Amino acid sequence: MASTKMLEALNKQVQREFQSSYIYIGMESYFSEIGLDGFANFFHVQSLEERDHAYRLFNYINSVSGKVELETLEKPKCDYKSPLDALEVTLNHEKFITKSINELMDLAVLEKDHASISFLNWFVDEQVEEEESMDKIIKKLKLFKDDPRGLYMIDTELANRVFTPSTAE
Ligand code: FEO
Repeated sequence: MASTKMLEALNKQVQREFQSSYIYIGMESYFSEIGLDGFANFFHVQSLEERDHAYRLFNYINSVSGKVELETLEKPKCDYKSPLDALEVTLNHEKFITKSINELMDLAVLEKDHASISFLNWFVDEQVEEEESMDKIIKKLKLFKDDPRGLYMIDTELANRVFTPSTAE
């Protein structure tokens, strides 16, 4: 069973994952409006993944006899200066989430909460992938700069992303 402090911290992370999901729906809206449907698909899938992360935490909290308390979400931005701007905001947000996961892990270690450590390991690995994938898109966008053919190529690539629920693993 997790401590009250651990449960509160996990609950805060549920909120952050749902907020992430909402932020990425805002990005989906931005990309849909400017006609980059591949990017819009990428953020649609990203949003579903964040919801999946929230439910992963939700289920864990329940399994250790806690209860999830939901809070109000903040209004997300639906406009960005450019695709690069949106991706840079995404990478910075993911860095914030990584920090948040690391703090959760620090607490679990401090409390010698082995079940939570084991549970959180998945999130630690996931954040490495999240930051890497955003960084790769940013590098490509910088490489192609204002070349519309490059942007079109990345858009075509991102159209292929599909959602696979992690909770089905
Ligand atoms: Fe669930 Fe993108 O962190």
